[in-house]
Amino acid sequence: MTAPIINGKQISEDIRKDLRAEVEQLVKQGFTPGLAVVLVGEDPASQVYVRNKEKACHELGYYSEVHRLPADTSQADLLALVDKLNHQANIHGILVQLPLPKHIDEKAVIDAISPEKDVDGFHPINVGNLMIGDDSLLPCTPAGVIELIKRTGVEIAGKHAVVIGRSNIVGKPVSLLLQRENATVTMCHSRTANMKELTRLADILVVAIGRANFVDASYVKPGAVVIDVGMNRLDNGKLAGDVDFESVKEISGPITPVPGGVGPMTITMLMQNTLIAAKRLQGLA
Ligand code: GUN
Repeated sequence: MTAPIINGKQISEDIRKDLRAEVEQLVKQGFTPGLAVVLVGEDPASQVYVRNKEKACHELGYYSEVHRLPADTSQADLLALVDKLNHQANIHGILVQLPLPKHIDEKAVIDAISPEKDVDGFHPINVGNLMIGDDSLLPCTPAGVIELIKRTGVEIAGKHAVVIGRSNIVGKPVSLLLQRENATVTMCHSRTANMKELTRLADILVVAIGRANFVDASYVKPGAVVIDVGMNRLDNGKLAGDVDFESVKEISGPITPVPGGVGPMTITMLMQNTLIAAKRLQGLA
């Protein structure tokens, strides 16, 4: 039997509808959540991502500022802009699009963003708060993964979740969030020796290893929830996930496609974070 497909696009639209309604109410009360996005240089993929973030702001009623800076912008000038945005009252979320040009120290820039406005959830204060289970702004893609699993209706508590990938932006935070939801979590990565033995024990399998079609049906326990965070551009120009969707969907439980699974959730979670940050800064949360 073919598994139910987790429709990330639809779920994302449902969440955006709720966000739009909440923002509309706030705007009526005279308060508009604001997001500033900073793009340095002309990386084509980054330009598309930034445009989509700007579009989401407009569609959902947020105030939006996009700062497009030349590729030779100095680190000092970028830090000065971040500092200005940190102090700007109509801005509640700041996102500096990565990657930055090589002459700029990404860590110095992330560290300079006020943790209260760090809607990427990349600042060490937010990473640390996630680690100890305190309130923080959660990184967008991991938050989207958890939301998708919850919306399958499958209970996370008590389940065995296996995460393939240990990056700072996906694998590590997803593992912490699953643990917070009371799953038992195993982390696998490129150096794991007996990966299939482990993944076949998973009730929930999250794949973020960055290799096209890496996980086939032989990695998956029948009925398991499978979340594919991979976005790999193939030689033929097509987008492929880390999971071989066609074979895995024949034995898995609910499964995300690529595209149309995790991808659409990332900007939606960014918008959710911006609203959370805005309400906290305004004393409304
Ligand atoms: N570049 C690619 N993905 C992201 C993201 O989630 N946040 C930022 N700041 N840059 C990115």
